[in-house]
Amino acid sequence: MKTLHLDLGERSYPIHIGRDLLGRNDLIAPAVSGTQVMIVSNETVAPLYLAKTQAAFSDYQCESVILPDGEQYKNLPTLDSIFETLLSHHFDRHCTLVALGGGVVGDMTGFAAACYQRGVPFIQIPTTLLAQVDSSVGGKTGVNHPLGKNMIGAFHQPRAVIIDTDTLNTLDDRQLSAGLAEVIKYGLIQKDDFSCWLEQNMDKLLARDPDYIAEAIETSCQCKADVVAADEKEAGVRALLNLGHTFGHAIETGTGYGNWLHGEAVAVGMLMAADLSMREGWLTPNDVKRVEDLIDRANLPTRAPASMHYKRFMELMAVDKKVRAGKINLVLYRALGDAFVTDEFDPAKLEQTIEAHRAISNDQE
Ligand code: NAD
Ligand code: GLY
Repeated sequence: MKTLHLDLGERSYPIHIGRDLLGRNDLIAPAVSGTQVMIVSNETVAPLYLAKTQAAFSDYQCESVILPDGEQYKNLPTLDSIFETLLSHHFDRHCTLVALGGGVVGDMTGFAAACYQRGVPFIQIPTTLLAQVDSSVGGKTGVNHPLGKNMIGAFHQPRAVIIDTDTLNTLDDRQLSAGLAEVIKYGLIQKDDFSCWLEQNMDKLLARDPDYIAEAIETSCQCKADVVAADEKEAGVRALLNLGHTFGHAIETGTGYGNWLHGEAVAVGMLMAADLSMREGWLTPNDVKRVEDLIDRANLPTRAPASMHYKRFMELMAVDKKVRAGKINLVLYRALGDAFVTDEFDPAKLEQTIEAHRAISNDQE
């Protein structure tokens, strides 16, 4: 097992990465406060991992709440079902919540913990690659609104992140690829040497070689922990972690939550950001090809849905947390491994980028 640390003063916490960690009471106990523990999971993950996870909490009053599975349920009514279970079991303000699942369960559990009795502790036990490399670390929690993705939420840091890489054995290939999109993101924003490593080892990652998967998770979590430690509330550098997300969130909202996976939408978005950066003269055509090849080799889409024309993108991108005084800010590239946030791009070039990366027909998506 390897343990990384996210350094946030009194809210610092460990990120444990290793095999067979689910039932490890020694990892969990230091992060639990009080005697009451509520494990939040969903109908897919609970049959696989709930019993093993509960074993680590045998010294506590341990209850569980099982949510429906899907991005379309990441909303306020589902959140309310968590509050209802907490209240019906008389959980007090010293209880601890545990998120057992992917990013959807993690974001909702964290937000429930941020709100319940004005804030209780929580632990992240992420079970998808995407959640293990990104969403479980950094304390962004929340739910979607029909008009905008992740628009209702709070910053609330977990007490610990426990990444059991064995849980990836039951994840399907499409979800593994979606997680690889966020892995690729770290190389593209800050670490071109990591992009080179991914170019060399993508086949091993797709084949789920445990050593290479563990290395990708460690590098990603270290990168995320460094960025969050420097800028917890996204006043500056943390915005870079949104590379591809303004385009991606528009695709997710525009196609109906749950149809495009978050990682798939982000993958197309990272390519669109590269294409726009090339049109602005910052990247070369060869750079853009590198981004496209990496995304394609991870079995991720390189074209947005045919239905997502320029006007639809612009409507949806206007509802983005990086919008300032009505202006869209995008994460673009000065070079590969050197991303930055800017609102200074030519709208005509943005339109060209969107139209050039839209599938011609639905078959192409
Ligand atoms: P997800 O939570 O929907 O999980 C994907 C699917 O895999 C689900 O059907 C889930 O039930 C299933 N699953 C989970 N673990 C499994 C396992 N071990 N074996 C088999 N099936 C398993 O999706 P996700 O990709 O994990 O997360 C996407 C969400 O994360 C989005 O809502 C996105 O907005 C959010 N997100 C948040 C942050 C953040 O910083 N908070 C960062 C990135 C993404
Ligand atoms: N996934 C973006 C962030 O955590 O800031």
